[in-house]
Amino acid sequence: MQIPESLAELGKKRIKPYTVEGFVYGSGPAKPKLMLVGEAPGETEIHNGIPFSGRAGKHLMGFLEQIGLSREEVYITSAVRSRPYKWGEKRERSGEVVKRKYNRTPTAKEILAHAPLLDYEIEHVVAPVIVTLGNIGLKRLAGADKKISEVHGQLLEQPVQRLAGLDDVSYEWTKKLYRLFPTYHPASIFYNRSLLESINDDFDRLRKLLD
Ligand code: URA
Repeated sequence: MQIPESLAELGKKRIKPYTVEGFVYGSGPAKPKLMLVGEAPGETEIHNGIPFSGRAGKHLMGFLEQIGLSREEVYITSAVRSRPYKWGEKRERSGEVVKRKYNRTPTAKEILAHAPLLDYEIEHVVAPVIVTLGNIGLKRLAGADKKISEVHGQLLEQPVQRLAGLDDVSYEWTKKLYRLFPTYHPASIFYNRSLLESINDDFDRLRKLLD
């Protein structure tokens, strides 16, 4: 399943005012075994166009393997399709200081800019469960009051947020109920190793749920 080209163009136009680069399409079958919603692509993804193909993606593929699934069987997307970055400085081994781009969390405006794209996918991809990876995907779909530390590993059956209208800056709730399963973003383990166990436990629960 790929979003229509006109929708991708709309997304590119809506994200233009912000400090982001590249554009990565969601990827996978229209009737996947699972839908996964991340945060935003990083440097690797904007170069090869494959969602979750960088360092975090390697871990994600490991978690999927744990529940007997491959990349080809799932639909992978994210709240924002372009890489949000900020400039920073890095000291080289030679002592030279060079400017480089660092990933950053997408802002609420950037998430709104790409909301029509995720809305389309939520509507057109038919998955038994939608796994949100990290706080950004969770809050985008399940509401700003949700916290990953409180709801990870639990099945939430509820409406999801969608953009109220193309000229709107607010969300409305869908009439339809969705099955959401929040877990931590795989990149979180780079900063907090103890989350690895939580993610493993969440995926064990997810496997039982899918059986
Ligand atoms: N994080 C995401 O949310 N998506 C990617 O594609 C890579 C990292």
